Amino acid sequence: MQNQLKQILFDEATLQQRVRGLAAEVESAYQGQPLTAIILSNGALFFAADLLRRINLPLHLDMIGVSSYSGTESRGQVDFRYPPKLPLHKHHVLIVDDILDTGRTLEGVIAFCRDAGALSVRCCVLLDKPSRRIAPIQADFIGFSIDDLFVVGYGLDLNEKFRNLPCIGIPDLG
Ligand code: IMP
Ligand code: MG
Repeated sequence: MQNQLKQILFDEATLQQRVRGLAAEVESAYQGQPLTAIILSNGALFFAADLLRRINLPLHLDMIGVSSYSGTESRGQVDFRYPPKLPLHKHHVLIVDDILDTGRTLEGVIAFCRDAGALSVRCCVLLDKPSRRIAPIQADFIGFSIDDLFVVGYGLDLNEKFRNLPCIGIPDLG
């Protein structure tokens, strides 16, 4: 399946090394405090599984379903397919997402967590595409910043395909 990529941007070893670094950054930022990690499904599943296993803090885990993309274009609206089940009131919330693009998804999710009474809301994203930003959102922890490229693999999809690639690259759309 990797031969359906026209370019590999981050191979498996590079991703795993950076995820270890991110886990250390998150761990030191919370200084032993418990946190509630909210994984944005489906894109952040692989990243979150690797990241959170390396964070040595008391941690509650929840997942939410949001979607703002269809194919390669942002639709500019956030649909909550399922909200968090855990109470966020007075919890330190860490939102874990695959990629920060226009920022609309995280803008909506951050607002949701704040409205639910979270003590603090931070965001950890594997990838950041700052040149695409529409909503004024910055992540607190960023794996890699990339140019305006549509990428797949390690959770990121094109119409639900390529998520299971161990690396991240640019799909060959023919
Ligand atoms: P935003 O709301 O525009 O920031 O979009 C965030 C969501 O769009 C991410 O969680 C991804 O699911 C999806 N997305 C953005 N860029 C890409 C990409 O290059 N490849 C695959 N999915 C992407
Ligand atoms: Mg997606």
